[in-house]
Amino acid sequence: MSSVWVGAVLLFGYFVAKGLVSPLSKVPGPWYTRFTSLWIKYQEFTANRRESIHRLHQVYGPVVRLGPNEVSFTGSDAIKEIYASGGSGYDKTEFYTLFKQFKTKTLFSTLSKDDHSKRKRLFAERYAMTNVMKARPLAAITDRAMAFVSKCTEAGKKSVDVYVLLHCYAVDCVTHFMFSPGGLKSLNIEKDFEIMKELTYHQSLQMKPESLLAYYLPSWEPYFPKFLYPRSAPKTNQFVLDMAAQTQVEEYTLLEKLKRKESGLELMQAAAECKDHMAAGIDTTGDGLCFLMWELSRPHNLEFQEKLQHELKSSSSDASFDSLVYLDAVIKEALRCSPPIPMSLPRYVPAGGRLIDRYFIPAQTIVSCQPYTVHRSCEEVFPDPDRFYPDRWLDAKGAAERNRHFFAFAVGGRGCTGKNLALVEMKILVREVYSRFTTTVAPDMNGSMKLDDQIISARPKGQTCKLTFTEI
Ligand code: HEM
Repeated sequence: MSSVWVGAVLLFGYFVAKGLVSPLSKVPGPWYTRFTSLWIKYQEFTANRRESIHRLHQVYGPVVRLGPNEVSFTGSDAIKEIYASGGSGYDKTEFYTLFKQFKTKTLFSTLSKDDHSKRKRLFAERYAMTNVMKARPLAAITDRAMAFVSKCTEAGKKSVDVYVLLHCYAVDCVTHFMFSPGGLKSLNIEKDFEIMKELTYHQSLQMKPESLLAYYLPSWEPYFPKFLYPRSAPKTNQFVLDMAAQTQVEEYTLLEKLKRKESGLELMQAAAECKDHMAAGIDTTGDGLCFLMWELSRPHNLEFQEKLQHELKSSSSDASFDSLVYLDAVIKEALRCSPPIPMSLPRYVPAGGRLIDRYFIPAQTIVSCQPYTVHRSCEEVFPDPDRFYPDRWLDAKGAAERNRHFFAFAVGGRGCTGKNLALVEMKILVREVYSRFTTTVAPDMNGSMKLDDQIISARPKGQTCKLTFTEI
């Protein structure tokens, strides 16, 4: 018995000594994070990770130790080092294996930089602005925005749940871009609407304990009871497989590129990649637009809506997006206040360790920045950071610093591949809506718009956003 005690004391002593001599012991943070990662894991399992990290940064500043092997940063130099040094920054951690599709690695879930850059070279050109802005994809996005507008017109004085309709819009746009002439029309076709519902309300990639358990305890996964397994998405899977099997697709689509012989991808790999982009492009764009319309509709923000309407009214219907500066400001501000991916984007420090924001961080330490905090941590860059205030983006003074701290799409070679598509979808929808309507919060809106964290993204907690549309 006494040898058990001696063993326990020695083990305890070992962990204490290790925590005290580790280079991370110099990094600011609560004392217990020197010795254990249980605190941050608890926050993660209880869906409080983002808010807890945010609070720590408010107390300790731009560099915070989260555990004996994990540090969070908020400064623009740290962002550049972690996500953009050498082009693509550091390698991703195994956290991203949670995002495999059809049990297959995709661009998003590939961990090493080298494997990633090979895959990215295959289709990066499809997401370039020059491809997204071609006449056919642009007309398709505009058609879908007009389908959204028709729903708002049909509703008359009744409230419209834009949370649902914006997810339909996002899924219809992204599936067209990937699969045209295939693609969903969930704004109008009931069967397609069911697929949108399955994806948007789908739990498998969301903050459910089983996903995290599988990540932290991979060798135990085969023994998890069946009820712990995430619900599958059978309709979506079938849809993606059917689409991937198409033989004739339009020349600007993602699938056309993936199916070329020189891509070297099997059918299943192409399908997995498409499902990944579909998942990446629905809740992000849908929730981003939902938070944006909600903010513009709140009584104290109506002045910003009026400024937007004024800009749209005084420019021609074919004005280039570059000339619509207030539209751009509104979109950036919505993504700054409520980034659809607000949580840490974890990476491993490379061999040899690195100096990040003045601290030496050893190799294999997990480092990250979270968009939610990056967008709020520097009052000189974003004064009154919790306030939705689009005009802050119009001031030429400080523009470079603001852009350096804009992290909604991440940065570097592993930043959002779909950024151009997402921005064009958002701009077209907002332009078509606010050149026709004034929106206000509907009297029957009773859902919470608080950010509800999932595994890496966040959505409005109530999963509903009821607005009233009044024609201008
Ligand atoms: C407002 C909308 C969007 C936001 C805020 C957003 C945000 C992000 C962020 C922050 C990342 C980096 C994640 C990380 O490093 O862990 C990312 C990656 C990615 N996004 Fe988006 N995204 C949006 C829309 C889209 C769309 C429409 C698509 C495609 C149709 C897309 C496809 C991807 C892909 C494929 C990656 C992985 C990139 C890589 O690892 O190389 N996203 N996105």
